[in-house]
Amino acid sequence: IAARVTDGPLKGRRVLVTSGPTHEPIDPVRYIANRSSGAQGTAIAEALAVQGADVVFVTGPADTKRPGGVEVIEVQTAAEMAAAVDAALPVDAAICAAAVADWHVVGAGNSKIKKDGSGKLPVLEFAENPDILAGLSRPGPRRPALVVGFAAETDDVIGHATAKRERKGCDWILANDVRPETGVMGGGENAVTLISAAGAEEWPRMRKREVAKKLVARIVDELGAGETGRKD
Ligand code: CTP
Ligand code: CA
Repeated sequence: IAARVTDGPLKGRRVLVTSGPTHEPIDPVRYIANRSSGAQGTAIAEALAVQGADVVFVTGPADTKRPGGVEVIEVQTAAEMAAAVDAALPVDAAICAAAVADWHVVGAGNSKIKKDGSGKLPVLEFAENPDILAGLSRPGPRRPALVVGFAAETDDVIGHATAKRERKGCDWILANDVRPETGVMGGGENAVTLISAAGAEEWPRMRKREVAKKLVARIVDELGAGETGRKD
C-alpha cells in the first residue's frame, strides 16, 4: 500500500475521491446497487496520495483494500455519500469515481417484507438520489477548482459522455465503455477517453492503476505544482 508522501507536487492540496457503489435498502435484509468493484477509485486515491495530496476517500460498500495514507469515510447510501462529500468541502479537486445508485426505495423501513402466501408481489416506489457530481460542479464559492466525473456507457460512449459533461457542469469526464464484452467492469484494466473543453482524447487500454497515474499527472498539471490556494 502506498503511503502519502509529504513533499510531492500535490503537497497541501486537498482532493476528494468518491468510489465504489452505493447500496439503497429495500428493507433491512435487501438492497439495490450498481456493479462497481471500487478498483478505479481506489487506484486514483492511492496515486493522489503518492503525489502528496491530502486525500478524502468517500467509499460505498466495496471489498477493495483501503488505500493507504488517506482519510477513509465509509458510507452505504447515495444520501450518506452526498452528506459526506458536503462535509469534506472545501477541496481543491474532486474526482467522482463512485457508481452512485440513481434511485432509492421510498419508505424502506425496519420491517422485512414477507411473502404472505397469496403470491401477491411487492411493488417498490423509487425516488431520485441527489447528483453528487452535478452538486460539486455548480458554480459558487465552494466549487472545487477541478471537478472530474466518470461516464460508464454502453452505446455511443463519446456522444453520451460529452453531453453528460455539459449537463453536469464538471471540467473533465472520463468516458468508459462498459459493455460486458470489454471486461472493464470487475476487471483490472480500463479503456477511457478524457473529455474536456478541449475535446476528446482517447487513452490506450491499460491497467486501472496506470489510468489513475495518468489522470493524476493531468491533475498535477492543472492545479499547478507549488501553487497555493484555490482558484475561486
Ligand atoms: N454521479 C453522482 N451522483 C449521482 C449519479 C452519478 O455523483 N447520483 C456521478 C458518478 O460518480 C459519475 C458521473 O456522475 O462520475 C456519471 O454517472 P452516470 O451514472 O454515468 O451518470 P448519470 O447522470 O446518472 O446518467 P445515467 O446513469 O442515466 O447514464
Ligand atoms: Ca447513473
